[in-house]
Amino acid sequence: MKQIVSTTLLALLASTVMAGQKTEHVEQSREAVQQFFGQLKGELQAGMKAGGPVNAIEVCSEKAPAIARDVSKKQGLQIGRTSLKPRNAGNAPDQWEEAVLREFEQRKAQGEHPKQMEKHEIVETDGQQRFRYMKAIPTGKLCLKCHGTDIDPAVSAKLEKLYPEDKATGFKQGDIRGAFTIIKDL
Ligand code: HEC
Repeated sequence: MKQIVSTTLLALLASTVMAGQKTEHVEQSREAVQQFFGQLKGELQAGMKAGGPVNAIEVCSEKAPAIARDVSKKQGLQIGRTSLKPRNAGNAPDQWEEAVLREFEQRKAQGEHPKQMEKHEIVETDGQQRFRYMKAIPTGKLCLKCHGTDIDPAVSAKLEKLYPEDKATGFKQGDIRGAFTIIKDL
């Protein structure tokens, strides 16, 4: 009896500790997203102000990966951006990410606002446990200049040159443009 009680207690304790660690990973992920998004948005707004969207394309193509690398290093994880309709093929989702992006679309169709939408899970692949986290990115008004339906011809021309396989146009305000995605080896 005593043994059963202590085993149960131990299991309970272990799951509490694990839940605590998971909360920690979630909080760290939220912080990483905030850093990435905050820095990128600042650079994007400054780039647009300085030279309009044609100029700001470079902010997205060069600064976004650089900021992602910087935040990843600081936080000890991998952060990036993905989408069901990526501009950069290198941002295409893997299997888990694609399933989550589809789930986000479903949740939006059911009335949930994309702004707060997130998903996290501990996934095991090849014997390695990884914490995975995604947060939806809604399309704002600013984004339409490069991801909308009515894109300036000079912007389109530059985008076509840099991204011949671009799928990231035709979005409307409020659509889910994509998501931040984080992987942390455990
Ligand atoms: C000045 C043009 C421009 C504006 C404005 C812009 N983007 Fe982008 N966006 C790009 C470019 C260029 C890329 C490709 C970056 C790369 O090569 O990684 C991109 C990539 C992305 C990606 C990564 C997935 C993919 O498609 O490759 C997301 C997510 C994204 N943008 C969301 C947004 C959101 C949300 C906004 C508004 C807050 C926005 N963008 C505004 C040009 C722009």
